[in-house]
Amino acid sequence: MTETKNTTQQTQQTQNTAQDTTTVLVTGATGRTGRRVAEAAGAAGLTVRAASRSGAVRFDWADPGTWDAALRGADGAYLAFPSDIGAPDAAPAVGALARRAVELGVRRLVLLSARGEDQALPAEEALRASGADWTVLRCAWFHQNFSEGPLLDQVRGPELAFAAPDGLREPFLDARDIAEVAVRVLREPTGRYAGEVLDLTGPELLTWGEALTAIAAAAGTPKRYVAVPVRDYGGALLEFGVPQEEVGFLMELFGTLLDGRNASLTGDVERVLGRAPRPFTSFAAEAAAAGTWK
Ligand SMILES: NC(=O)c1ccc[n+]([C@@H]2O[C@H](COP(=O)([O-])OP(=O)(O)OC[C@H]3O[C@@H](n4cnc5c(N)ncnc54)[C@H](OP(=O)(O)O)[C@@H]3O)[C@@H](O)[C@H]2O)c1
Repeated sequence: MTETKNTTQQTQQTQNTAQDTTTVLVTGATGRTGRRVAEAAGAAGLTVRAASRSGAVRFDWADPGTWDAALRGADGAYLAFPSDIGAPDAAPAVGALARRAVELGVRRLVLLSARGEDQALPAEEALRASGADWTVLRCAWFHQNFSEGPLLDQVRGPELAFAAPDGLREPFLDARDIAEVAVRVLREPTGRYAGEVLDLTGPELLTWGEALTAIAAAAGTPKRYVAVPVRDYGGALLEFGVPQEEVGFLMELFGTLLDGRNASLTGDVERVLGRAPRPFTSFAAEAAAAGTWK
């Protein structure tokens, strides 16, 4: 059962009636991971501040004036930086927010980061330097890139064109597993996992073509993957509405990230959750049954 209450800072919180007294700020709470972190935290009995520019709790990375009300009185926070954690503005923002959180007594900070992304290291370092009890979740490509966000329209159609080369294998990861790991880490009263980088992957390596074939089978319609050379992908990014100034960064990012460096599996999801990560076929079957690709 949930209820909504107003605090003096005019924030809103969703409260579960179970006995866990931990309060967590969840940023990006309308996004692919944050939404699921908020749900999983609520289901675990935590008090959740679901925050974003349009969320129940107003929070804007670009407006530090919104930070204190969102942070004050919380025990921990899930930090999902919008666009990309390796973007040039990420490290200063993550560092400033983490330092302010620690000043306000919000010590348990969990940062969503990206596996194999060298450009994300400054943001991770800024978090570490804040003095927080930090944990970094270095995540592989999400399953939900195929069901939410800029690629969805193409995945619904007969052809998906992306910058991953044919034959490149990725350990696609379910955002629900990220959420459960984040909540497990945020709930640890002993600070277990504090000071750790968790390297999160799914249970298998798939090419983008194989992932799309699994979706086609689940959705019952043929689909074809087309590998676009990174140098030619800028036009597609502009069509997705990516601002011109971000296109150069993303092309540089894809040029390094999509070189096979992530073609390996880790056991970190299982180490934290005590079970294997969700396979891509389960995601595809559930999303197809929900009508995602109709
Ligand atoms: N996609 C992948 O496969 C992948 C893999 C590893 C890591 N990552 C990392 O995942 C992060 C993105 O997380 P996500 O995919 O969970 O989010 P997402 O689905 O891209 O959604 C973005 C979220 O951030 C909020 N937001 C946007 N601008 C904001 C602002 N200025 N201030 C506050 N909130 C803002 C949005 O809500 P409002 O619009 O309401 O503000 C929304 O809740 C990036 O850092 C990326 O590097 C992605």
